[in-house]
Amino acid sequence: MTLQPARGALPRTRTTGRRTTGRRTAGVLLAAAALVATAVPASSALADPGTATAAHDRTTAYLNPKLPVARRVSDLLGRMTTAEKIGQMTQAERGSVDADPAQITHLGLGSLLSGGGSTPKPNTPGAWADMVDGYQAHALATRLHIPLLYGIDSVHGDGNLVGATIFPHNIGMGATRDPQLVAEEEHITATETRATGPQWVFAPCVCVARDDRWGRTYESFGEDPALVRRMESAIDGFQGTRTKDLARPDRVLATVKHYAGDGDTTYGTSTTGDYTIDRGVTRTSHRRFDAVDLAPYVTAVQVHGAGSVMPSYSSVQWTDVPGSQPVKMSASKELLTDVLKRKIGFEGFLISDWDAITQLPGDFATQVRTSVNAGMDMFMQPYDAPQFEQALAAEVQAGRVPMSRIDDAVSRILRAKFQLGLFEHPFTDRTNIGTVGSPAHRAVARRAVAESQVLLKNDHHALPLKPSQRIYVAGVNASDLGNQAGGWTVTWQGQSGNTAFPGTTILQGIQNEAKNVTYSADATAPMSGHDVGIVVVGETPYAEGVGDVGTGGHTLGLSATDRANIDRVCSAIKTCLVLDVAGRPQIITGELPKADAFVMSWLPGSEGAGVADVLFGKRPFTGKLPVTWPRSEAQEPINVGDVHYDPLFPYGYGLTAKH
Ligand code: BGC
Repeated sequence: MTLQPARGALPRTRTTGRRTTGRRTAGVLLAAAALVATAVPASSALADPGTATAAHDRTTAYLNPKLPVARRVSDLLGRMTTAEKIGQMTQAERGSVDADPAQITHLGLGSLLSGGGSTPKPNTPGAWADMVDGYQAHALATRLHIPLLYGIDSVHGDGNLVGATIFPHNIGMGATRDPQLVAEEEHITATETRATGPQWVFAPCVCVARDDRWGRTYESFGEDPALVRRMESAIDGFQGTRTKDLARPDRVLATVKHYAGDGDTTYGTSTTGDYTIDRGVTRTSHRRFDAVDLAPYVTAVQVHGAGSVMPSYSSVQWTDVPGSQPVKMSASKELLTDVLKRKIGFEGFLISDWDAITQLPGDFATQVRTSVNAGMDMFMQPYDAPQFEQALAAEVQAGRVPMSRIDDAVSRILRAKFQLGLFEHPFTDRTNIGTVGSPAHRAVARRAVAESQVLLKNDHHALPLKPSQRIYVAGVNASDLGNQAGGWTVTWQGQSGNTAFPGTTILQGIQNEAKNVTYSADATAPMSGHDVGIVVVGETPYAEGVGDVGTGGHTLGLSATDRANIDRVCSAIKTCLVLDVAGRPQIITGELPKADAFVMSWLPGSEGAGVADVLFGKRPFTGKLPVTWPRSEAQEPINVGDVHYDPLFPYGYGLTAKH
């Protein structure tokens, strides 16, 4: 099995970072030039003395913030060499340039990203901002001083950053049915992300999860495209609602992903061989594709003005076109250019997924050419940016990629950089850095946790609990921050345990409400004398195809340990409650009758106290299922609207505990 490489290579601590306070672009550029003076080569590989003139002053149109963005874009484009344009289309992983950041200048890179777990050391807000600013200085040392765009996966808060506010994953946010809350969440996430350097997030996932066996189900707001569309308030939370908001220190450029059909692939069709469903084939008709998979993108672009779109690793095969073969998204001119850019009217830029083009047929040159000509604008080439630039330059030189396509791609990228205000303020505005993980931010996350809880069963008035009750808590997931946060937390895959990042466990939340609480992870402590037993079951962290059912031993079933805990506690203590901490519905058909009450907690993130808030009736249960709950794994895929629909709990189910 060849999974993606670990993404957590740690760089040296950076000392070169700067914060800009000056408003004058020229001043910023001179400071940057001084900062990297020793790192900049005498003659940049990108310099083209025949056509190039250095531009430092505000009489130069592209440096004049008073001019319209379109004018600045065309002015700058007109000054750029082909190599400089290709550089703008190239994104590298920070780990690949950290040892020699002058490569940012040499290669004229348009963008860097932090993959999951690719963090500075120490992993603190200040070190993040210093790191990004250090890279930025190298970008500003290029001939035309074009600032770098720095991207990161802030998919449930700025998950890579230790100390950030970690929100429930999207599936929990879908359960809240509260678009205003989602906008608040992403505004906080944008604030914490931008204050620490990155100005661009690879979020929100507007995937429509149609098969819960998919390892990315928890990244989806739900199985119904109408629900996903409602939750696209996330884009407003990230970007603000006016173009000029993008330049603010509390907003970032959003990316809707993964265009399109990533959650609608057929089980067993994964084209990479590593997984069973992720990166698979969406077999569908044009009509159904429009209704289920494409619909969120129409809203994202036309209503919310999403700034970037990430095409999916998956393929589409049309069932209404005779002889149709699966075509990877990164190669689909039909879907990238004809549908998204022309028909839907997307004016932002397309960023390829991590190394995605290497999954296309043919040699590397063919892969590059195919994807650029299909409409891809920027390329996430984590570890082979130089080879990408060479390959694309050769294709342009040979006339196989038209210059008009390059100019279109670069114009889209530059437009975003101007809108983000990066030419005026390339370095991190740290005004809000003190708010990272603040009590106010955590309070919103705690409310989100409470709103996301779905009450599936409540017999004998088991809930709400009373602080006076003697409570017995069992199950590892009661007391494991890593498990309650899931994937994309500090590392790509996430990790079990309580030491990686700060937060409140579900158990701590319960202990804060009740005086008499016994905790026994494996349910071996004596049970007599307790009024209520709470068994916390669930999953351990995973991300992407690694979490596919059928890959790496994953199933939708409860573990033997969880089932044993339910048996022990529910047979010994009169009132028994089960909490499920997982990224998707688990098969509980046999266990449900043993419990008086059952709550789906999803992956709540850092603020476990929100679970206790609803258990003890401080807040009402209002969450509704964002996906159908199957009786058995064999029922998958099962979705609302199916002709034969016989789930354990239907889409939208959720009780309200009477208080
Ligand atoms: C994932 C994307 C993510 C990217 C960068 C890819 O493997 O599919 O969702 O944005 O990595 O981390």
